Amino acid sequence: MRNVTRSAKLRYKHGMNELAFSAPAERNKKPILDVLRTLLPAQGRALEIACGTGQHVVWFAANLPQWTWQPTDQTADLFPDIMVRIGEARLVNVQPPQLLNVLTGSWPNEYERHDLIYCANMLHIAPWACCAGLMRGAAEHLAPGGRLVTYGPYLEDEVPTAEGNLKFDAALRAENTDWGIRRREDVESVAHAAGLQLAARHAMPANNLLLVWQRPG
Ligand SMILES: C[S@@+](CC[C@H](N)C(=O)[O-])C[C@H]1O[C@@H](n2cnc3c(N)ncnc32)[C@H](O)[C@@H]1O
Repeated sequence: MRNVTRSAKLRYKHGMNELAFSAPAERNKKPILDVLRTLLPAQGRALEIACGTGQHVVWFAANLPQWTWQPTDQTADLFPDIMVRIGEARLVNVQPPQLLNVLTGSWPNEYERHDLIYCANMLHIAPWACCAGLMRGAAEHLAPGGRLVTYGPYLEDEVPTAEGNLKFDAALRAENTDWGIRRREDVESVAHAAGLQLAARHAMPANNLLLVWQRPG
């Protein structure tokens, strides 16, 4: 498989007929699913933002079969790999991936609402403006009672930052000055401006957080 490291750039091993592969996504998909199971109703419609290799969406769809899944990303580069993954898993509850750039405001299925909007590991590997784009789009496209889930590393004022996250943050900023691990409190401010509030914070393995965002009330 082509390898996607946790580094800022997607780096692939080259090879014929190999799928792009993220080792971190493979490690964190089960802990994330375990939390999603505690949050989600038995069935619903999910939209994934920044789906990357598609490992998460295929895993979630296989394990939450009453949910339908729409993966999206700003680039179609890995869509062929995702289609292969969906086919190999014989999933009927995942739609073909669609282009969605959170900065453009053009979201698929725009007349439909989503019970879950899921976005892992985008906020720190994208310009800060993507946070506002994500929050505004989610506030607009969540069904009543729906949740936005974000996953990844964050800085927090009251929590000492793990050494690994400090190094990761420095590496991100060295690679692209628009990137970097975000302060959870800053993300909260942007969410509030869009009409969402932080409903739950789950500490996850490897110093990551899973954050749940909802409309008030
Ligand atoms: C590190 S990968 C994360 C992939 C996957 N969610 C995971 O956790 O393995 C970051 C992803 O964010 C996507 N991305 C970056 N900027 C974006 C934007 N403006 N809108 C949508 N996706 C974006 C990239 O294309 C890439 O697939």
